[in-house]
Amino acid sequence: MPNSRTNITDYPLDEFDEVHFPRPGKTEFECLAENAISRRRFLGGLVAGIAAFVLGGPAVAALTSPVSRLAFDPVAANGLDTVTVPKGYSWHVVGSWGDPLWSKGAEFDHTTRGTAASQALAMGDNTDGMAVFSHNGRSIMAQNNEYVNRRIIYGNREGGLPESADDVRKGKAGHGVSIFEIEQRNGKWSIVKDSEYNRRITADSPMEITGPAAGHDLMKTKADPLGTQSLGTWNNCGNGRTPWGTYLTREENFIGYFSSSDKAFAIPEALQRYGIRHNDWGYAWATDDERFDISKHPHEPNRAGYIVEIDPSNPDSTPKKRTALGRFKHENAEIVVASNGHVVVYMGDDERGEFLYKFVSANPMTAGGDNSDLLEQGKLFVAKFHDNGRGEWLELNPTTTGMKSQAEVCIHTRQAASAVGATTMDRPEWVAANPKKVEAYCCLTNNKNRGKKPNAGGDATPVGGPNPRKGNKFGQIVRWVPDDADHMSSSFGWDLFVLAGSPTVHRDNRRGSNNVTAENMFNSPDGLAFDSNGLMCVQTDGKYSNKGDFAGMGNNTDAGGRSGDGRDQTVPGRAERVRSDRYHVVR
Ligand code: FEO
Repeated sequence: MPNSRTNITDYPLDEFDEVHFPRPGKTEFECLAENAISRRRFLGGLVAGIAAFVLGGPAVAALTSPVSRLAFDPVAANGLDTVTVPKGYSWHVVGSWGDPLWSKGAEFDHTTRGTAASQALAMGDNTDGMAVFSHNGRSIMAQNNEYVNRRIIYGNREGGLPESADDVRKGKAGHGVSIFEIEQRNGKWSIVKDSEYNRRITADSPMEITGPAAGHDLMKTKADPLGTQSLGTWNNCGNGRTPWGTYLTREENFIGYFSSSDKAFAIPEALQRYGIRHNDWGYAWATDDERFDISKHPHEPNRAGYIVEIDPSNPDSTPKKRTALGRFKHENAEIVVASNGHVVVYMGDDERGEFLYKFVSANPMTAGGDNSDLLEQGKLFVAKFHDNGRGEWLELNPTTTGMKSQAEVCIHTRQAASAVGATTMDRPEWVAANPKKVEAYCCLTNNKNRGKKPNAGGDATPVGGPNPRKGNKFGQIVRWVPDDADHMSSSFGWDLFVLAGSPTVHRDNRRGSNNVTAENMFNSPDGLAFDSNGLMCVQTDGKYSNKGDFAGMGNNTDAGGRSGDGRDQTVPGRAERVRSDRYHVVR
C-alpha cells in the first residue's frame, strides 16, 4: 500500500481505509442506494428481539420495498419498553413463546408456564434467527429458539431454575427450531394451527451427521456406536438459507448444557478450548439425560457446534448436521454462489479472539437439480488479515494443520485455525454479502480482551488490523473484496466499514468513525443483512444501560412476548448481560 503508515492505530479511526483505499467522491456502495446522501449514514430504528419476529412480516416487507427503502423517518434511540418503528409503520405480535402449533396442544398456562408435553407442541422460546419460505403458495416460518429464559419459563419456581425432570424436559423442548405456517388476514399475520408444515425440532429430535466427521471415532457414543446419528440441536442463534430452499440453523453456545457428575473428571483440552466446564449454565439437562454428562459421555459435545440443514417444506425430513462447515460457536451462514457455480458460505465464530471462516462446496450448484447434499463436502478456510489491507483465506486440511484427518479438522476446527495462524477477531458475528457487488461484511461485535489476553487456545490478540482498539467496547464492521471479483479467490482486500463508538462520551478512538454522531451512535453490531437492492440492515446487541459509555444509545429494548425479559443467557452467579436488539439501516 502506498503509505508508510501501515498500522491502523497510526490514524484517526476510519481514516485508515480512506488513506489506504482512496475512493472516488461517490462510492460504488452509495451508487447502489439511489439518492443516498452519504456513505455510512446510519438511520436509527429500534426494535426488540421478539419484535424482529413481528417485523419479519409486513414491516420488513415495507422496509425492503424499492418504493419505501429510503422513505421512512429515522427513529431516535429511546428508553421505552416497547417496539419503536418509523412513523407510518405499525407492529403486532405474530406468535409468542408457548403458543400451541396444533389444536391438540394446550393453550399457554400463565400459572404453570406449561409442561414438557405442552412445550413440545408449542412455539419455542427466545426467538433468534428466522426465515420465511414460500412453498406452494404458502408462507412457512422457520424460527430459531436459541435458549430458554429461565426466569420466565421457570417463573413458577422460586429460584427461576428447573426443579423437576419435567421442568428439564420443558426446557429442552423450548430449544431448537419452530417451523410453522403463517398467513395474513385483515392485515395481520398469525400462526396457522395444524398446518401440515408445522413442526418442532428440539434438543431431542433425531439428526443425521454428514460430512467428513460422520462416523469418526470422536463422534461415536454408547447410544450411537456408528457416530452418524445424534439427538437434537440447541442454542440456535444465527441462521441462513440456501438457494435450493433449505434452512440453516446454527449451533452457537452449545457448551452451556454439558456438565460432569464427577467433579474430578479431567476435561480434555479439546473440550476446554470450546469452554466446556464441570458445571452447565443452569439448564440441568444432565440430571435427566445422561448424554449431557461429559464424565460419562465425553464424545457427546463433539456432536454439537455445527450448521444444521433443515427442509422446511418436508416435516418428515431428518435435519442434517453439516460437519464439513466446521465446529465452533456458529453465528450465521451467508451463502453466495460464485461465478463457477460453487457455493461459498461465510461464517463467524462468536467468541472473543476466535475466527472468521469460509466454506467452498466441492460441487457446483445445478439450477433445478438436486443440490440437497451440496454442503456435505468441500473445502474449509479461515481468514488471515494483514495490516496492509490485504488478506488471505487459509485452507484447513491435514497438511496445513498437522491433524490426522479432515474429520479432525471439522471437529477441532478452532484448533485447526490456530494451527495455521488465523487472525483472532473481535467476536465475528453475522456476515452479509452485497448482492450488487462482490464484497462481504462481518460484524465484529466487541471484545473486552482485545490486546489484553489471548483467546482460549492461547493465541495472541494484538491490537491492529481489523481489530484496532484495545479492550474494544463498541465493535466495528469489516468489509472485504475478493480478488478478481470472485468469492472463490483465496485473497482479498479489506477495510473497516464503520467503527462504532460514542462521540459524546469519548474524544479518543472510542468515539467511533467520524460519521458516527450523537444521533446515530450505537454499539455491538451483531446481525447484518442486505436486501436484494443492496440496502444494508445492521442489528445491534450490546449494552444499553443508556449510561456512561453507552449514554444516548437507548435502552435494552424489552418489548412484547412472554420471554422479553431483557436478559441474555448467562452462567448463574455471573453478572447478567443485558440483551438488546436495535436496528440501523445504512443507505
Ligand atoms: Fe447468539 Fe452471537 O449471538
